[in-house]
Amino acid sequence: MDGTRIADLADLSTDDTFLFRVRSEDTAVASGDAALRSDENTAANAEDGDSTDSDDGIAMPDDMKQDDDVREAILLRLATEDGDPADDVACWLNYCQHMTHIKLDKGSGAPVRDGEVICVNHGALFAADSGECTYGPCEGAFLNEIDVQVADGGVFLADDEYEYVGEGPVESDDDDLSSSSNVIL
Ligand code: FES
Repeated sequence: MDGTRIADLADLSTDDTFLFRVRSEDTAVASGDAALRSDENTAANAEDGDSTDSDDGIAMPDDMKQDDDVREAILLRLATEDGDPADDVACWLNYCQHMTHIKLDKGSGAPVRDGEVICVNHGALFAADSGECTYGPCEGAFLNEIDVQVADGGVFLADDEYEYVGEGPVESDDDDLSSSSNVIL
């Protein structure tokens, strides 16, 4: 267990998502930009033998390094049956299961309505508590889960496969910004 505090429970919402980054050693589940960038960076890193520095030799802060294994994740607060915020959360990798390079949260929170996370690209709905796509082109597929724990009013990373990197989106990660919504919310 990493044990890193990701967010305060009180800061999480039941109607949108909190975006952060994790690093994984498991390339088999690579998705999104991590997967798309892997080929070109593998060659570059093998050449200079040190993937931690930029090309001009200036060391970059840990959370700014371009890293094939860094992915985005979303955290959201679950609601009770009557709609009130519960002391429970869910955490998923931030990639739709219809097109796995498409992000659910594009930087300002993915919409969550009636306990379902909405992919605005083609309208897929994912149950916030189970991650299952209940409607849309990837119906029956599941989001990739990241284990977290709620303690002392905070949410902590509790997944051995992931290391906390930082809050917010992956830097220079702009391929999805041109995607237009086909869904009226
Ligand atoms: S990319 Fe998410 S529904 Fe198509």
